[in-house]
Amino acid sequence: MTPLLDIRGYRLAFDGFEGRAEVLDGIDLAVQPGETVGIVGETGCGKSVLARSIARLVEMPPGRVLGGSIAFEGQDVFAMDGRALARLRGHGVAMIFQDPMTYLNPVFSIGSQMVDVIRAHDRAEGRSMRARPAARTRAAELLAAVRLPEPDRLLDRYPHELSGGMRQRVLIAMALSGEPRMLVADEPTTALDVTIQAQVLRLIAELVATRGLTLLLISHDLGVIGALCRRVVVMYAGTVVEDADAGLLFDRPRHPYTRGLLAAVPDLARPDHRVAGIPGHIPNLLAPPGGCRFHPRCPLAIPRCAAEKPGLRDVDGRRVACHRAEEAA
Ligand SMILES: Nc1ncnc2c1ncn2[C@@H]1O[C@H](COP(=O)(O)OP(=O)(O)OP(=O)(O)O)[C@@H](O)[C@H]1O
Ligand code: SF4
Ligand SMILES: [Mg+2]
Repeated sequence: MTPLLDIRGYRLAFDGFEGRAEVLDGIDLAVQPGETVGIVGETGCGKSVLARSIARLVEMPPGRVLGGSIAFEGQDVFAMDGRALARLRGHGVAMIFQDPMTYLNPVFSIGSQMVDVIRAHDRAEGRSMRARPAARTRAAELLAAVRLPEPDRLLDRYPHELSGGMRQRVLIAMALSGEPRMLVADEPTTALDVTIQAQVLRLIAELVATRGLTLLLISHDLGVIGALCRRVVVMYAGTVVEDADAGLLFDRPRHPYTRGLLAAVPDLARPDHRVAGIPGHIPNLLAPPGGCRFHPRCPLAIPRCAAEKPGLRDVDGRRVACHRAEEAA
């Protein structure tokens, strides 16, 4: 089966005042249609820049692709012209982010913004643009689909009149308006209260199931990932270190970093959760450590780890990037 998303050897850097930061260092990740994949890792490990890269949303410059490729439905994302890109962003992969307010315009009503988005998708799909009243009817249907009450009244309201949870539902409704194949949700509930968080996560799970969406869910919270995803990808300092079925990963993690993350799970109840299981910090990506980027923090490090970068390989039914994966069970 052709993967829906196929990322191979993808390397991304940011050029800045202090030099070049190599923030993604050879990412390999293929996602099949219908999969639900979680990406987890500490702050700064590259989850968001990877997600944004899929829809070519990383600003270049300062970003610069150093190598590798990203294909969606077999099409090279970096070779797409404006029209193909607009189609990718509507009908291909829809994104939702942590802070919905950033993506809503405070001076226009919800309805006016949704109508514009719906008509833009018509244009991207090469259809004749529907009239505004028809687009408004569609917007109301979408608001109902994300379980917002009284959609018609809501369309006339402004973003600041809505709660954070309602705004996130509006953004999800907008994401659905292009009938995407894949939903990429980057910390979609991190900014919300715990009870609202659970409701929005349930909504995402329901939409994924009923619409057959492929899901890429990014979170630093393993509990959130475990609730929604069948497969988990663990990132560390711009690399994929483990990629496994969720059950397998939670029961028998192989990578020392994954083991550290799981050791910190009791802290997940704390909103400001830190990875307590792993001493130290992620490295400065302006001068990342050679070999395995985790070696300065790894309890199992041996001299080879500083000299040779471990590639992802199949061990015990999953992919793991560690020279000592066999011993780390
Ligand atoms: N526009 C940019 N210019 C320069 N550096 C950037 C830019 N965007 C991201 N970075 C850097 O890329 C690295 C990865 O950032 P990213 O936002 O992807 O991390 P993350 O895993 O999503 O973290 P978090 O959990 O905090 O959201 C960081 O070192 C960050 O500083
Ligand atoms: S390769 Fe070495 S340093 Fe890296 S995780 Fe494995 S044992 Fe630790
Ligand atoms: Mg992020």
